[in-house]
Amino acid sequence: MRCSWWARASCTLSSLFYFASQSFAAPTDIPSAASFYIPSIPHIHANPDINLQLYGGHLSADPNATRASPTDVTAHLYFFMVKNRRTADKQRVVFWFNGGPGCSSFDGLMMEVGPWRWDGKSEHDFWVKPGGWEEYTTMVYVDQPPGTGFSYTSTDQFAHTIDVVQAYMLEFIKNFYQVFPEYKTVDTYLAGESFAGQWIPYIADAMLNSTLNIPLRGVAIGNGWIDSKSQYLTYLDFATKIGLLKENTDAWKKVNKLTQDCSAAFDRLGGRNPMKMKECSHIMYSVMDSKAHKQDGVDMCINIYDVRLEDTSPACGMNWPPEMPAINKFLAAPEVVASIHASAHPGTWTECRGQVHLAFHQDDSESAVSILPRVLSQIPVLIFVGDQDLICNYLGLEKMIKDMSWNGGTGLGTVQTQSYSVNSLPAGTWATSRNLTYVKLFNASHMAPFDIPDITHDMMLRFMNVNFSSVIDGTARIPSAIGSDVKPHFEEKLDTGEGQGTPASAKTPQQNKAMWEAYYNAGSAALVLIIVFLVIGTFVYCRLRRKRVQLPTTTHDPNEENIPLTSHRGMADDEDIDSSRRRSAKGKERAKNVATANGGSNVEEEERIFDVGDSDDEDYKHNK
Ligand SMILES: *[C@@H]1O[C@H](CO)[C@@H](O)[C@H](O)[C@H]1NC(C)=O
Ligand SMILES: *[C@@H]1O[C@H](CO)[C@@H](O)[C@H](O)[C@H]1NC(C)=O
Ligand SMILES: *[C@@H]1O[C@H](CO)[C@@H](O)[C@H](O)[C@H]1NC(C)=O
Ligand SMILES: *[C@@H]1O[C@H](CO)[C@@H](O)[C@H](O)[C@H]1NC(C)=O
Ligand SMILES: *[C@@H]1O[C@H](CO)[C@@H](O)[C@H](O)[C@H]1NC(C)=O
Repeated sequence: MRCSWWARASCTLSSLFYFASQSFAAPTDIPSAASFYIPSIPHIHANPDINLQLYGGHLSADPNATRASPTDVTAHLYFFMVKNRRTADKQRVVFWFNGGPGCSSFDGLMMEVGPWRWDGKSEHDFWVKPGGWEEYTTMVYVDQPPGTGFSYTSTDQFAHTIDVVQAYMLEFIKNFYQVFPEYKTVDTYLAGESFAGQWIPYIADAMLNSTLNIPLRGVAIGNGWIDSKSQYLTYLDFATKIGLLKENTDAWKKVNKLTQDCSAAFDRLGGRNPMKMKECSHIMYSVMDSKAHKQDGVDMCINIYDVRLEDTSPACGMNWPPEMPAINKFLAAPEVVASIHASAHPGTWTECRGQVHLAFHQDDSESAVSILPRVLSQIPVLIFVGDQDLICNYLGLEKMIKDMSWNGGTGLGTVQTQSYSVNSLPAGTWATSRNLTYVKLFNASHMAPFDIPDITHDMMLRFMNVNFSSVIDGTARIPSAIGSDVKPHFEEKLDTGEGQGTPASAKTPQQNKAMWEAYYNAGSAALVLIIVFLVIGTFVYCRLRRKRVQLPTTTHDPNEENIPLTSHRGMADDEDIDSSRRRSAKGKERAKNVATANGGSNVEEEERIFDVGDSDDEDYKHNK
């Protein structure tokens, strides 16, 4: 299946048929699959054992594109597709989304579930490694909503509301099927993390209700921001539980007071549960302040994505993971951008784009927990959570599940939570009830697949109901168990790459361990990364300071076009109640950058946005 007729045709014809789409207006006809084929990418070091088939480029996402004038810049979403290298029991496709709002899915591709990893040393080189989700599943990384990552549109078309986000994604999928019709009937999943916990249920809901007949079989959300009420109100519990705060200390009382104020603010809304509540946005910062200290004269604080780590203040996790500088350099290289067919995007790639973030009215949009029961009545949902994350911690998600009613019951009910082990080592806990699966993952951060790629891959294969008895080769044969549900014993060789064998059979823990080590030695990047990221956690990359305002122009000159946001509501009115000087200082610095980028125009508008501090807060909050 890896070499279907059309894929071969694509490879042959790719160079003949690719026309860089320099025109921004909606294409009148859909380009061929071959035009999206990516033969190779500079600075990605091939692995002869792992043959990747890559596709990528822009697809129109504006359902009204045909009514737009030819000079209009309409919404185009960028996707990067990695075709499955093996087939387990059937074909599957996963659409992956990172969070934000406004964070690029290249986070997932470059650091979490993609086919390559950084080596911890090079400036911007990446090495193809085993263990990515593309081993058995076609992965499609989507930069959305428009304006995120390599996606683009005119700034007045940035999504303000969730129904527009849905409409853009449906149009994208429709066009994706026109280019790749063979996926129309393939089992489809959505997966992602963080703020994608809002996007995914809404997109799933729209897909299930659409006339496109998308064979959506499930959705998986990692460390999601899904239910702001439950999640804001449990920061205190989490901080107390892990010992960040001691009960009845002054710091604890302060956070307790903020939590009560937040709760009262929700009560005043009479049942509404917006994705963001300005009255609640300071709880987490107060938790963080409790651990603030100086180290060698430098202000340090907790890493909000991994409570085991610290970062310099005020980044507090923004400098993490340590691969960010390499990713930025890689995706800024014009030869890379050209090779992945992203040149139609103006300016440089940025991990999280503030303008997209600010444009989306989180405080007017209902948290996705409100529609999750409707999704659960139709398809299985996996909620997984790395237990070392503060910002979207497991206690908040457990409270959400406990309070949620779906498929005729409330909470998980009487089902037994089982232990989940991978390669005979404890990996977490697993519980499934009425289409909802909750997996708590040990020793993992906000970006769980970054820390434990093997375990999260196994988890996803299980969630997608891969029939392990029919798996012939590859990492799906790494032993794992949920309670007494153990994978079949594999007698043959474990094949981690294409034709690269290591001993497999799962007889004793010692043998398991040896096999596991062999697997990892074959692709030890993950281990190297973990060590590296512990050692150089303070490596400096300040995303906020570098953030530029991205404007949809055909040139790279930011002065060329200055379309202001059509609305600043929901951001500009936020007040920085209790934020420390460092955050307002940062806000000013950003305003200054913006003013420079805009050649001095539009300063007041931007200052109004960037000075309030809350936008910073939100960048912290859901930004991966
Ligand atoms: C498309 O146009 C209709 C009618 O003008 C409008 O209501 C809708 O919001 C537009 N959709 C998008 C995604 O812009
Ligand atoms: C489903 O789609 C129909 C037709 O487009 C629409 O009327 C209805 O409101 C949608 N339902 C939901 C739950 O989105
Ligand atoms: C669960 O999901 C399946 C599809 O996998 C669906 O048919 C079923 O109605 C859903 N609801 C329940 C209660 O299982
Ligand atoms: C991982 O988590 C488990 C359970 O919390 C714990 O027993 C174990 O020591 C942890 N392992 C590491 C390497 O931190
Ligand atoms: C799983 O695969 C095995 C081997 O191909 C097959 O015998 C079995 O029927 C399959 N099970 C299911 C539930 O499809």
